[in-house]
Order: sequence, then C-alpha cells, then structure tokens
Amino acid sequence: MTAALVCAFIIAVVSAFHAREGAAASAPAPDGKAIFATKCAACHQVSGAGAGPYPPLNGNGAVTASDTSNLILTVLNGRSGPIQVNGKTFSGAMPAWKDHLSNDEIAAVLTYVRSAWMNRAAIVTAEQVTTARYPVALTGGQIFAAKCATCHQADGAGTSAYPPLNGNPHVAASDPTEMIATIVNGRSGALSVNGATFKGKMPSWKGQLSNADIAAVATYVRSAWTNKAPGVTEQQVAASGPSVLSTVGASIFASKCAACHGANGQGRGHGTFPALAGNSLVNNNDPAAAIELIEHGRSMMPSWKGQLSAGDIAAVVTFIRTAWGNKGGAVSEQDVMAAK
Ligand code: HEC
Ligand code: HEC
Ligand code: HEC
Repeated sequence: MTAALVCAFIIAVVSAFHAREGAAASAPAPDGKAIFATKCAACHQVSGAGAGPYPPLNGNGAVTASDTSNLILTVLNGRSGPIQVNGKTFSGAMPAWKDHLSNDEIAAVLTYVRSAWMNRAAIVTAEQVTTARYPVALTGGQIFAAKCATCHQADGAGTSAYPPLNGNPHVAASDPTEMIATIVNGRSGALSVNGATFKGKMPSWKGQLSNADIAAVATYVRSAWTNKAPGVTEQQVAASGPSVLSTVGASIFASKCAACHGANGQGRGHGTFPALAGNSLVNNNDPAAAIELIEHGRSMMPSWKGQLSAGDIAAVVTFIRTAWGNKGGAVSEQDVMAAK
C-alpha cells in the first residue's frame, strides 16, 4: 500500500519531469538533421556520400576540421571552382545560405554534418556563425570602444545624457540611412528614444572616420548586445549622409550663389564678392558664423532667411563647406535652427 503510493508518486514526478523536458525540446532550437534533409541532401545525399559534382560531407576532412571558419564561410557565402576531397576533384557551385538560414540554423546544420555518419567533430555555435557573418563587427567593436563608448557606454545602454543604442529602434531600423547620417553629420536637438528624451550633441565623425570605419561601427551597433539588424556596407555609407545634402546644396549654390561667388567658389570682381573656396569663415569648425551670415546677409550679400528653408540652408552650407577642397564638414538642419 505505502509502496504502491510511493511508486505512484515517483511515476507522477518522473512523468512531470519528462513533460517539462519535452516542452523544452520543442522550443525553437533548430533541428540540424531536418535542415540537412530539406536544404542539403538533394545535392550531398542523405548518406552524406555526395554524388556527381557534389562532394561527400561524410569522411571529409574539411567538414571535420577543428578550425570551423572556412566551413562556416562556405555555407554562408557558397563557393565554386575546383576543390579536392579525398583525392577527387569537384567543381560545381555550392549555393550561399546567408539569406536563407539564420545563424542558429547554420550552427545546427553544421553541428549535424560534423557529427553524422562517421564524422565525429565538435559542435558549431551560433556565435561562431555570427562572427563569420559580420567580419567587420570585430573592428567595428574596437572603433566603438575607442570613439563611442565614453558617451553611449560599452554595453550600449547610454546614460541619462546619452541615448541607448542597445534596443534603440532607430539603430536597428531596416533602412540604416538615417543612422548613417547621424554618425556622419552628428545631430543635436530633442531626440526621443523608447519614451526618454535626450537633448545633447552627437559629434560629427566626418573626416575622422572613413566610410569603411563608419560601416564597421554601424554594423557593430546594429548587431551588438540584443540588436539583430543586418550589417551596413561601405557603399551604403558613401551613398547617404552629407553626399545627399551636398547634392541638394550644389544645385542651390548653382542657382542662388554662383552668380556672385563664382561657379567654383573662386569669388568675382577682385574681392568684391569673396572667394568661398579656402575661406576661413566657411571652413571654421563651428559653422554658426557662416550660417548667421547667410541667414541675415551683410551689405551686398543678400539675406536668405525666408527664401531658403532651414533644410536648404543646411544643404548649401554643407556644400560650400565640403566643395573645392574645403574641409569644414557637414551641417545639419538642427545646426541651422540653433543659429541666431
Ligand atoms: C545545389 C546543390 C547543393 C546544395 C543544395 C548544397 N550544396 Fe554544399 N556544395 C555543393 C557543391 C557543388 C560543392 C562544391 C563546390 C566547389 O566545387 O567549389 C559544395 C560544397 C560544400 C561544402 C564544402 C566541402 C569541402 O570539402 O570544402 C560544404 C561544407 C557544404 N557544401 C555543405 C552544405 C550544406 C550544409 C548544405 C545545406 C545547407 C549544402 N551544402 C547544400 C552543392 C550543394
Ligand atoms: C560626446 C558624446 C558622444 C560620442 C563620443 C558619441 N555620441 Fe552618439 N550621440 C550622442 C548624443 C548626445 C546623442 C543624441 C543627440 C540628440 O539628442 O540629438 C547621440 C546620438 C547617436 C545616435 C542616434 C540615436 C537615435 O536614437 O537616433 C547614434 C546612432 C549614435 N549616437 C551613434 C554613435 C556612434 C556610432 C559613435 C561613435 C562613432 C557615437 N555615437 C559617439 C553623444 C555621443
Ligand atoms: C548678389 C551677390 C551675392 C549672392 C547672390 C550671394 N552672395 Fe554671399 N556674399 C556676397 C558679398 C558681397 C559678400 C561679402 C559681404 C561682406 O563681407 O560685406 C558675401 C559673403 C558671403 C559669405 C561670407 C564670406 C566671408 O569670407 O566673409 C558667405 C559664406 C556667403 N556669402 C555665402 C553665400 C551663399 C551660400 C549664397 C547663396 C545662398 C550667397 N552667398 C549668395 C554676395 C553675394
């Protein structure tokens, strides 16, 4: 009787335990074997033996190598061209999976491939795949530590004065253009992040960080901590930020300013209309004096307030500060609104 009760109790505990274990196993962890069956077996075969132009993955030293970086890159980016496996040459094309499988899924399928059949190699972690997927994230992390962490903090949490970059929807936005422009041009004025308002000044990094550095640090902040947004390329950086402003600014300059200051900013009338190329006011680190002069005019220099919007003044000032060898740097609409 007592023995039966104890037995029933044990059975109840054990089955509750199994139920919980079952629940944990059915949680998201991807099934490497199932991924292999649906995505890879058509070419590499269920047995891993390969066929025709498709190399074997079973008994393949490249698959079981202790350094997994080439293996992960092959699956992320695909590969083609002749490869030698166990003395046989294959030269087909392995598709790229980076847009079709997550880091977790690639880790799972490679862990399966490295332990299935007669293979006996260690697991591949999602972190290893993440590092391979975002190779610049490492240098981006170094730039972040050197240039950004003093304000935004190493864990991206920010402070009461500096906005968080971790969990910040502007940082992880699917279109990174605005974030790139912020890093390139800086920004100031009220900024609201997850309900908190910040009113500081983010410095401009133009001229201090190359496009590649900006791509690296932007990729880092978009993929670090709990952020999971895709990386930013150098081309995206080159195509956004001040070049956009500057293109608008160039057309404003051509139609409103070039008649007096010359199409190349060289000035006219022997000094009556000053050169803007190499001009110290224009190149001044602080753009406020140039903005104020353009807004209010002085003697024969017309006032543009009311004729050009703050955004247009930012664009034309950005243009004259970056054209013809000038190195003053970009100016934001907020800078214009902050000027007197
Ligand atoms: C459309 C056919 C095809 C599919 C599907 C495919 N592969 Fe491949 N795979 C190839 C070919 C072809 C090569 C050899 C490429 C070469 O010749 O450079 C290859 C090469 C490889 C290699 C490199 C082997 C070595 O010796 O370096 C690995 C690892 C690999 N595939 C894993 C996978 C995994 C994992 C999947 C599923 C996510 C997959 N492949 C899906 C065709 C395919
Ligand atoms: C001197 C302090 C400081 C440094 C250094 C700094 N930031 Fe900032 N950053 C700020 C402030 C302040 C803001 C908010 C500006 C505002 O209120 O308009 C900001 C805003 C941002 C934003 C916009 C966030 C949003 O929600 O739109 C991004 C992105 C950003 N910073 C990235 C960086 C990166 C990347 C670096 C390093 C290259 C960096 N910051 C360095 C102070 C700083
Ligand atoms: C009608 C002719 C004229 C036009 C059009 C004109 N400017 Fe000027 N600008 C001048 C003159 C003249 C000065 C010198 C004013 C002075 O110092 O008294 C000047 C001065 C400047 C200065 C200051 C240069 C310095 O060294 O002090 C800047 C910057 C400037 N202009 C930018 C612009 C921009 C940008 C535009 C177009 C939006 C523009 N100007 C349109 C005539 C013009």
